[in-house]
Amino acid sequence: MGRGLFISLEGGEGSGKSTQAKRLKEWLESQGQCVLLTREPGGTPLAEQLRQVIFEPAAALDAVTESLLFQAARTHHTTHKILPALAEGQVVITDRYLDSTRVYQGVLGEKSVAWVDELHRLTAGDVWPDMTLLLDIPAEIGLPRAKSRGDATRFEAMDIEAHEKIRQGFLQLAAAEPKRFVMIDASKSLDEVSAQMQAAVQKLLERGDA
Ligand code: TMP
Repeated sequence: MGRGLFISLEGGEGSGKSTQAKRLKEWLESQGQCVLLTREPGGTPLAEQLRQVIFEPAAALDAVTESLLFQAARTHHTTHKILPALAEGQVVITDRYLDSTRVYQGVLGEKSVAWVDELHRLTAGDVWPDMTLLLDIPAEIGLPRAKSRGDATRFEAMDIEAHEKIRQGFLQLAAAEPKRFVMIDASKSLDEVSAQMQAAVQKLLERGDA
């Protein structure tokens, strides 16, 4: 297809995704790669506006509207930012993508994973990451970390059982697609987590797509 590489970072709250995404970008650039670092929900001005709407504490979103807003943001982000960067041969790193909707709105929420996948296929052209790095961390370690950041979304306000369910949801998705998912032990030190991620991405680069 003659395109760059598409890497998503997934995981529960406080798994260190955002910090590790920046570190991965710096490492890839040191390897001579041209990198786009982006995030969901967000990544384009419109999608960032949708992020505000979704996380507005007073928004009384029902399950379908919530899923549609996440997917609307994703479709815009995919069409206007991710696909053009991939077409230029860049490495795209996104802090969350479709698997977050599959877990938060699918496994945890009222919609099924199959429903989320079909919505994605219908609206975003069935674009999937080449590699998904799952930063796995027990909820009892991740949740206090996320809360100490002080920018809690209402998703972070959920109880520990919900967070453990999110973790198990990601683990189930990873088990179902062992070729796409790479498990990263995010309870390790910053440097150790970065090293695990770099090793995985190095293999992807060696597969020769970039
Ligand atoms: P984060 O920017 O700290 O990762 O927070 C984003 C929050 O939004 C997080 O609690 C997960 C949630 N989320 C969903 O519920 N569905 C989605 O599709 C995405 C991308 C995020």
